Amino acid sequence: MSDTPEISPEAVDAAVHAALAAIAAASSTTELKAARSAHSAEASPLAQLNAQLRNVPNDRKAEFGKLMGQARGRVGQALAAREAELAESETAAKLEAERIDITAVGSRARVGARHPISLLQEQVADIFVGMGWEIAEGPELEHEWFNFDALNFDVDHPARQMQDTFFVDPVERHLVMRTHTSPVQVRSMLEREIPIYVLCPGRVYRTDEFDATHLPVFTQFEGLVVDKGITMAHLKGTLDHAARVLFGPEAKTRFRSNFFPFTEPSAELDLWHPTFKGGARWIEWGGCGMINANVLRAAGIDPEEYSGFAFGMGIERTLMFRSDVQDMRDMAEGDIRFSEQFGMVV
Ligand code: DAH
Repeated sequence: MSDTPEISPEAVDAAVHAALAAIAAASSTTELKAARSAHSAEASPLAQLNAQLRNVPNDRKAEFGKLMGQARGRVGQALAAREAELAESETAAKLEAERIDITAVGSRARVGARHPISLLQEQVADIFVGMGWEIAEGPELEHEWFNFDALNFDVDHPARQMQDTFFVDPVERHLVMRTHTSPVQVRSMLEREIPIYVLCPGRVYRTDEFDATHLPVFTQFEGLVVDKGITMAHLKGTLDHAARVLFGPEAKTRFRSNFFPFTEPSAELDLWHPTFKGGARWIEWGGCGMINANVLRAAGIDPEEYSGFAFGMGIERTLMFRSDVQDMRDMAEGDIRFSEQFGMVV
């Protein structure tokens, strides 16, 4: 090339110095790559000087050959050294940039948690499963026969009235949103072999007001036992046990005589605890009794051979007493500030 100086120690030296300066100035592997192609690749001054070796007179070939070899060696070494240096600092910079503080508080999305009603329902189920009982379920949209007739309700019982119960159109189909979990008793007796020990938790519907102590949709748990020789003492012992597990060892229950069409005798179940809000006192917890012979017969069970007990309680009421919830509506409205107080159990 015309602008390449003729090969001479000075020209080689100048090319080497230019190359070394460019190599030293390269501050990244990309810049170093550019320096390499400008100062050591084919079209570089050094390569062009090298190409002139063939024009050097024979008697000076060895001298210039050595000069070129040394020059290219120096540039090659400088390139390799700078490359290693830059690679190392670039790796260090990358590690620094990608560094993670494993002690930093994460910005995790909040996961949901169980509703206190679901938690309590599960806890109640655990108590009975722990005694060897089974869990039974039934439909929420129920036939009137299961909800009332099979449970010995009179045809004109007030609970059957439209204003107390949600009947579903068309009325001739006799379908109701179940008003209690008691129809699951009948289904269990029809479907299962005796002995029967079942707990039936579930949602029930009544045309109640939505206020501090009533919800039109709420949750009950129903217990049913059918076996030989079952007495009210078994019922009392079972409920005392459940009360102690749920409310603590000091909890007690008592029966007050009452009427339910599906039990005879029937009792209102009261619960006592020393730390209830307002002091130690009795509160009404649910209903219970010995299964009415008519109900056993409706399910095809001989009341001469078998007897049984049943009980039913509201989960929302239970949660109210247990956790001192003032307003039942908090349990229905789904505000997580309410639920969080019961622990974020997933
Ligand atoms: N089903 C009744 C109610 O919803 C509660 C009840 C009372 C259930 C007595 C029973 C029982 O099993 O024996 O008010």
